[in-house]
Order: sequence, then structure tokens, then C-alpha cells
Amino acid sequence: MNYDQNQDLLYEGKAKKVFATKKADQLRLFFKDDLTAFNAQKKGSFQGKGALNRDLASLFFSFLAANKVKSHHVSDMGLTEMIVQKLQMIPLEAVVRNFMAGSFAKKMGRDEGEKLAFPIVEFYFKDDALNDPFLSDEQILVLGIEKAAVVEQIKVKTLQINSLLRDLFSQAGFDLIDFKIEWGRNAKAELILGDEISPDSCRIWDQKTHEKFDKDRFRRDLGGVEEAYAEVYRRLKSVRENQS
Ligand code: ADP
Ligand code: TMP
Ligand code: ASP
Repeated sequence: MNYDQNQDLLYEGKAKKVFATKKADQLRLFFKDDLTAFNAQKKGSFQGKGALNRDLASLFFSFLAANKVKSHHVSDMGLTEMIVQKLQMIPLEAVVRNFMAGSFAKKMGRDEGEKLAFPIVEFYFKDDALNDPFLSDEQILVLGIEKAAVVEQIKVKTLQINSLLRDLFSQAGFDLIDFKIEWGRNAKAELILGDEISPDSCRIWDQKTHEKFDKDRFRRDLGGVEEAYAEVYRRLKSVRENQS
């Protein structure tokens, strides 16, 4: 069967396609080879990127499950797809920062790389037309996007994921500089981690050389994008194999 057929396509995003499945409570995510930056103003791709990101997302979700953090991941399918629980997505990007980098460094006129005194969580409204604007917690409440208790729950769970991922990356010789995740609710109204975790949505630096192993290689035309993603997978896979 050709699973790439578009007949059950519900949505095509910048990096993934979302398909309906025979089960009403499950979706199929197809990870594309496309790479975009700056709200898709910059576009690229490399062969095998979808497969690498699917494998990495799957590795992270199984690692989190082993640490009692539930995600939408149900199973992998083929090389580039994943069956997930269908979620009602919360239209927020939860960004954790462990180090000064990216838009935080830019807006404060700071160099990248300074370790922050403690990890912070920021929220961005997921809306391409508005270019995903930053939202304060109070702006989220006053706009009625989520209730205070849910915002707090997302922060606590996001920081818990941060601490697990930092440790995993550290064992692979990487610093997890910052990352973005997305949350949603399943049919039982449980708050569940959705979307993906991959070098598209994280900043990952080598602990010794501070070399970048993430989408900044593409954003900043540093070259070696494919090699960097492959190296992240190679090192993390080896750590996971030694854990089991
Ligand atoms: P974008 O929409 O930002 O371009 P993608 O190309 O990654 O991003 O598209 C995947 C879309 O699927 C995203 O909008 C994401 O919020 C959504 N999504 C991820 N996981 C789930 C899920 N389990 N249930 C429903 N929607 C999901
Ligand atoms: P930023 O420094 O550009 O705000 O990005 C913080 C983190 O969030 C970084 O790891 C990249 C990730 N991110 C996304 O996954 N999607 C986005 O649209 C943006 C802007 C950042
Ligand atoms: N996620 C956004 C895009 O794909 C922005 C970024 O990651 O730089 O265009």
C-alpha cells in the first residue's frame, strides 16, 4: 500500500503532513524532507531528513515514556511516519531556554552561549500569519487561550522534560541550549506532549567545541546540516542502546 497518498490528508505544515487513520482517535504524521526557517521565508531540504527526524522524535518519545512522561507517540510506521494519538492542540509553542541564544540573545544584544541562572519557559502564539508572537502568561489568560492552572501545568511538565532531555543530551556530549515543544489534549482531556522533538526545534551544541548540531546550521548557512542531524541521531542512539 502506498502510504504517501494524499487522500486522507488533513493538514500539510512546513515540516510534516497530518493524515487521518481508520481509528478516529489516531493520526498519522508524515515527516517531510523539507526544512524551513524564519516562518518559511527560507526553504530547503535534504534527502533522508524526514526519516532522521522521525527516528529522533521516536527516540525522544520512548525515552520520555521510560521516564513516565506521556506523549502522543503510538508507533512508528515505515521510515518516515508515526502513528500518534489525535490531540486538540493548544495553540502555544512552549520554549525552554537553558543558555542565552537565538532570539533572546538578539533582543538583549548579548553573545550566545552564557548559561542562564535557571531554565526559563516562554510561550509563543502558534500563528504563522502573526509570525508566532511572544505571549506573556497574563496575555494568555486575558485572551482566554488557556486557564492559569493549565499554563502552570504546562510549565511544570515542560521543565520536567527539559531536565530529562538535558541529561540525555549531556550523556551524548551535547548541551541542550533551548528547544520548543507543543502540548494538546487527548480524548480523555489529558494534557499530552504532541508534535515532535528534533534538531529542527532544538539548539544542540557540542559540549567541548560548542559546534552547532541543529537547524541553526541551515538558518545561518553554516553547511553540514545533514551531517549534524545524523550525528545527533548516532550519538543519542548509542546512549539509548547503553541504557537498555
Ligand atoms: P507547522 O504547522 O508549524 O508548519 P508541521 O509541519 O510540523 O508544523 O505540522 C504538523 C502539525 O500537526 C502542527 O500544526 C502540529 O501542531 C500538529 N500536531 C502535532 N501533533 C499532533 C497531534 N497529536 N494531534 C493533532 N495535531 C498535531
Ligand atoms: P528562538 O531563539 O528563535 O526564539 O528559538 C528558541 C527555540 O525554539 C529554538 O530551539 C528553536 C525553536 N523554535 C522552533 O522550534 N520553532 C520556531 O518557530 C522558532 C522561532 C523557534
Ligand atoms: N519554525 C519556523 C519555520 O519553520 C521558524 C524557524 O524554525 O526558524 O519557518
